[in-house]
Amino acid sequence: MDDKITIAIDGFSSTGKSTIAKLIANKYNFIYVDTGAMYRAVTLFAMQNNLISNGFMDQTSLIKSLKEITLSFQFNMNLGFAEMFLNNVNVEKEIRTLEVSQFVSKIATISEVRKKLVSEQQEMGKQGGIVMDGRDIGTVVFPNAHLKLFMTASADKRATRRYNELIAIGDNVSFEDILFNVQERDRIDSTREDSPLVMADDAIEFDNSDMGITEQFDEICSVIDRIIL
Ligand code: DC
Repeated sequence: MDDKITIAIDGFSSTGKSTIAKLIANKYNFIYVDTGAMYRAVTLFAMQNNLISNGFMDQTSLIKSLKEITLSFQFNMNLGFAEMFLNNVNVEKEIRTLEVSQFVSKIATISEVRKKLVSEQQEMGKQGGIVMDGRDIGTVVFPNAHLKLFMTASADKRATRRYNELIAIGDNVSFEDILFNVQERDRIDSTREDSPLVMADDAIEFDNSDMGITEQFDEICSVIDRIIL
């Protein structure tokens, strides 16, 4: 088989999808696309333009403004992965804040937003040799992906991981707020009408609550090697 395969990684928030995806991309020389970053960048745009705040979302204006939003990934050699740019501005740090996390699932329910991002994702992946993570990659974006992984872990473990990441970048957050956000995003992502988070029938499920990164990565690489060889 051609080794430029397509790998779809879906799952709940903070299940370590991006960590695994980056490792796969490095080892197999694939392009890595973090689709959550794209939804986060659209959310940041909505916040910057006062189209979303607590208890308010101007969906009509956001839909009208979608044509003004240009998203791109630019590879950062020092970090070893591509950073998210919104209208040519590096927003990699801003999109990771708890504030963006609090609004992003709402923005991701808007079908017009999904349509724009899904078509950009399909364009990025059409040459193959890609590993993409998100919520609907194996079900909607690449239903014919060669390998589909579905990552899960307990909400408590995920909130702990997220809390540690945010503290490390200097965000002053409480663990309870993070846990609430993780559970709330699970609920919105799994129950939305358009492309809800569900495991594709042909996906392999990975519960990594009690699994280290190396162990997971080794197992996943052996599956990839079986497909490629
Ligand atoms: O992977 P993440 O936590 O950065 O994703 C942020 C949000 O974006 C998540 O709560 C749901 C949404 N999302 C989505 O609906 N579809 C995707 N393919 C990726 C993310």
